[in-house]
Amino acid sequence: MLEVRNVSKAFAAEGTVTQALHRINLAVAGGDFVSVAGPSGSGKSTLLGVMSTLVAPDEGAVLYNGENVAAMGERGVDRLRRRDFGVVFQFHHLMPTMTALENVLLPFLHRLRPVGASLADRARECLERVGLAHKADCLPAHLSGGEQQRVAIARALVKRSRILFADEPTGSLDSATGDRIMELLCGLNAEGLAVVMVTHNEEYAALARTRLTMRDGMLADAGGTCCAACPA
Ligand SMILES: Nc1ncnc2c1ncn2[C@@H]1O[C@H](COP(=O)(O)OP(=O)(O)O)[C@@H](O)[C@H]1O
Ligand SMILES: [Mg+2]
Repeated sequence: MLEVRNVSKAFAAEGTVTQALHRINLAVAGGDFVSVAGPSGSGKSTLLGVMSTLVAPDEGAVLYNGENVAAMGERGVDRLRRRDFGVVFQFHHLMPTMTALENVLLPFLHRLRPVGASLADRARECLERVGLAHKADCLPAHLSGGEQQRVAIARALVKRSRILFADEPTGSLDSATGDRIMELLCGLNAEGLAVVMVTHNEEYAALARTRLTMRDGMLADAGGTCCAACPA
């Protein structure tokens, strides 16, 4: 479904060049559940960025269903992202002036026609699924960090994404809420949604079918220790 072929990416900042990704090869099958562990700065977020087409690689290619995304053009990639990709970041990106429900509907607001009742219902269902139906009309500022993260997940669900990229989705949540989010992600994965998730949580990483570990921009052997802070 998604293939990363020989991808490298370097960043130049303040006179130093950081090789964030070094010749990464990786394939995600439809319905797969991939976890990515590794120390801070090892390239996990950059890898997720490249896979979700938000970061352009210096070398190598990303293929979606066999098609090179670099050859799709800006509009093609835009359509792909809107249609098939859901992204949840470590720090939710919600529009501060929009309610929770409106934030969930954000993927559809580029359409010229107004959002119909069935889409609004679906958005409410997604909020319900993350336990936030009662906060549909709240602004992000009136939600806790964990609740804001759950709105971001509902937003990824509403468009029936084929693949969800989650960068430390439980990183800012208490463990009970984190467990709930993981149950949700596992349930969605069981229904066919492919999930690629960066996490430092060993227990959560172990829920994935495919476990990857990154070190210095390269994929290390899976199943090893995540980082110095994690138990062996
Ligand atoms: N936009 C950027 N500009 C400069 N350096 C960056 C940028 N993004 C990431 N890096 C660097 O690339 C390396 C990998 O970063 P990142 O992918 O965020 O790692 P991780 O998510 O594993 O903590 C780090 O050294 C980071 O400082
Ligand atoms: Mg990161």
